Amino acid sequence: MSNLSTQELETKFQQKIDANEYIEPKDWMMDKYRYNLIRQISQHAHSEVVGMLPEANWITRAPNLRRKAGLLAKVQDEAGHGLYLYSAAETLGISREELLNQLLTGKAKYSNIFNYPTLTWADIGAVGWLVDGAAIINQVMLQRASYGPYARAMIRICREESFHQRQGFEIMVTLCQGTAEQKAMAQDALNRWWWPSMMMFGPNDKDSPHSSDMAKWRVKRESNDDLRQRFVDRVVPQADFLGITVPDDKLKWNAATQHYDFGEIDWTEFHNVINGNGPCNRERLNARIKAHEDGKWVRDAAVAYANKKRKKAA
Ligand code: 3HC
Repeated sequence: MSNLSTQELETKFQQKIDANEYIEPKDWMMDKYRYNLIRQISQHAHSEVVGMLPEANWITRAPNLRRKAGLLAKVQDEAGHGLYLYSAAETLGISREELLNQLLTGKAKYSNIFNYPTLTWADIGAVGWLVDGAAIINQVMLQRASYGPYARAMIRICREESFHQRQGFEIMVTLCQGTAEQKAMAQDALNRWWWPSMMMFGPNDKDSPHSSDMAKWRVKRESNDDLRQRFVDRVVPQADFLGITVPDDKLKWNAATQHYDFGEIDWTEFHNVINGNGPCNRERLNARIKAHEDGKWVRDAAVAYANKKRKKAA
């Protein structure tokens, strides 16, 4: 391989992707591909880890033991997803320390959705139903991403996300079949989580700077807008089943396209949130910084233990 020119290496690299073969860590890859994968996988890892915060907030207040156990398991799963994804990013030649540093200094992005507060128990239902529901729609496609370690991590993540979506929907069913007050809580949660969930798929295709490269490299196999449309088509009948209303007066079934038409997303809000100015950005970052500082003694102890073992073995 080393005798080949850059042009030839690039051609072979693209041919491999076009043939649906995985790119593995030791394979030659374009710098731009490596950079963009680190960008996406690390943002994804940070989203999983920051995403634990709004839900963990409700573990001690879950309405019964069954709900508490389910939520506890879900939050723990998200930590695991973060670990698989940080490990996948590390195979691209960046250290865990650097990745965490990017998050904790506010340099790295993470999903817009985790910068909103969870105000009532119904929010835990809505997050599972809508947020994990949106995440699955996006992530099923990533199981076939061209980078092997990322695609393989996504397979396990998707299985767990699907449990998360179901536990959220089940909470919504219980609330919607409960008292008028409980149903009102469910409606209020849908009102607040609908639009931020729609934003999770990223900007419209025409305004998405990375989409064409990510599609050419088969990291993204479907576009932001196509995935968003699938989400709407899937969730609206579920809201009908629950007997609650999606907060969009432009939402309408279109018999010609066989899809729902929907209203315009507030992209100003999206950009504010992803650039650090959402309702909870500072709170989320401070919580991660505190957790990192509080965990220092554990990392120090682990390193000291490993060093001691190494010395003994030598
Ligand atoms: N939140 C925050 N930033 C977002 C965003 C969102 N929902 N959508 C797009 N952006 C950012 C991009 O990261 C990019 O910023 P950058 O140039 O600084 O890196 C910019 O907006 C332009 O967007 P593009 O559409 O051009 O970017 P991408 O091609 O990377 O597409 C994406 C965005 C669809 C989110 C893609 O990165 C992706 O599929 N990522 C993997 C999935 C992921 O990260 N999911 C997080 C969801 S939460 C989760 O999984 C936890 C679960 O438990 C619920």
